[in-house]
Amino acid sequence: MSELQRMIQARNWMKTNENFLETWHAHVGYDLNLFDRFESPASVEDTASRFNLSSELLQRWVDVGVEVGHLKETGRGKFKANKKMIKYASKASSESVGILLSEMMELHIPTLLKYPELLESDERLTYLSEKFSEIVAETSTFLEKAAVSPILKWVKKEKPDAIIDLGCGYCGYLSSIHRKHPKTELIGVELSPEVVEKAREKVSSHIDIREGDIIDFLESYDGKADMIMAHNLLYYFKPEDRAGLFHRFARVLSKQGSVTIICPLVKAKHGAAFTAAFNTFMTAHSNLYPLPSPDSIKKDAKEAGFRVAGMKPLIREGGWYLITLKKKK
Ligand SMILES: C[S@@+](CC[C@H](N)C(=O)[O-])C[C@H]1O[C@@H](n2cnc3c(N)ncnc32)[C@H](O)[C@@H]1O
Repeated sequence: MSELQRMIQARNWMKTNENFLETWHAHVGYDLNLFDRFESPASVEDTASRFNLSSELLQRWVDVGVEVGHLKETGRGKFKANKKMIKYASKASSESVGILLSEMMELHIPTLLKYPELLESDERLTYLSEKFSEIVAETSTFLEKAAVSPILKWVKKEKPDAIIDLGCGYCGYLSSIHRKHPKTELIGVELSPEVVEKAREKVSSHIDIREGDIIDFLESYDGKADMIMAHNLLYYFKPEDRAGLFHRFARVLSKQGSVTIICPLVKAKHGAAFTAAFNTFMTAHSNLYPLPSPDSIKKDAKEAGFRVAGMKPLIREGGWYLITLKKKK
C-alpha cells in the first residue's frame, strides 16, 4: 500500500509540473521567434536549415508544442503554429505578452532555483538592473492597463498642476495623463539609461524625463509638485527607509499634495499566494526588499505627515493595490 501511495505522490508531482512545460515551450518559442517560423506550414528539417538551428532539438520542441497545443501537424511532415501563439508569443506582434515569459524564465525561475544554495549560505544574489530593467519596465506596462483608469480618476478629482512619476519606466501613466490633461506639467524620473532612451522615443516631448536616482532628484528638486506617483517602486527601498522616502515626497509636494502608490502588498486581503512568492524573489536579492503591508504603509505615511485616503486592490489574485495618500492639513 505504501508503495502505491508513493507512486501516486510521484505522479501528482509529475502532473503538477505539466503546466511548466507549456511555459517552457512558449518561452523558447518567444526567445527564438519560433512561432513565426511556423506561421505557415513548414517542416522541421527546412526550418532548422533556414534558421541555422539543431534539427534534432527543434524536432523535440515541435513534439512538445504539438502535445501542449501550441503547434499542430498539417500533414506531409509539416507543422503550423497556433494563431494565439503567433499573436501573443511572437516578438513581432504588437499584442505579444512574451516579455512576461522572459521575466519569469530568465529572472524569477533562476532565482528560485538558487534557493537551496542561498538558504545554506545566507548569501543573496544581486539584482542586475542593467540586465533586466528593460524587461521589467515593459512587463510593468501590463499592469498599467488595469491601473490607468483609477489613476486618471484620481487626477481628475485632485486636479494637480504638476505631477512627478518616480521610477517612471516607459512613462505610460504620464502619457495617458498628458492625453487627457495636456496643460499639466509632467516630470518622470528614471535610473536606467536604456529605459530613459526608449521612453524618450516613445513619449511626447511635453514630458520632461530626468535620468537619475529618485533620492538625488527629490533632494535637489526646488519646484513644487501637486502629485507624486510611486508605482511598482517601493521594493527598491529598504522597509526602514520608506518613511524617509515619504518625508522626501512631502517636502516637494504642495499643501494639497497627494501620492499614488502601486505595489503588491503582503498581509492584505487579496493575493497572498502571489505576494508570498514575490517576496521570496525580493528577499533572495541583496538590492531588492520585502513588500510593504497595509499596516507598514499606514505607519510610514503617518510618520511623514500623510493620511491614507484609499487602499484598493487593482489585481486581486496578484495582491496589487493602489494606495492614495494625502498630505495632512
Ligand atoms: C518595476 S518598474 C515600474 C515602472 C513604472 N513605474 C510602472 O509602474 O509601470 C520600476 C522602475 O523604477 C526604476 N528605478 C528603480 N530604482 C530607482 C531609483 N532609485 N531611481 C530612479 N528609478 C529607479 C527602474 O529602473 C524601473 O524602470
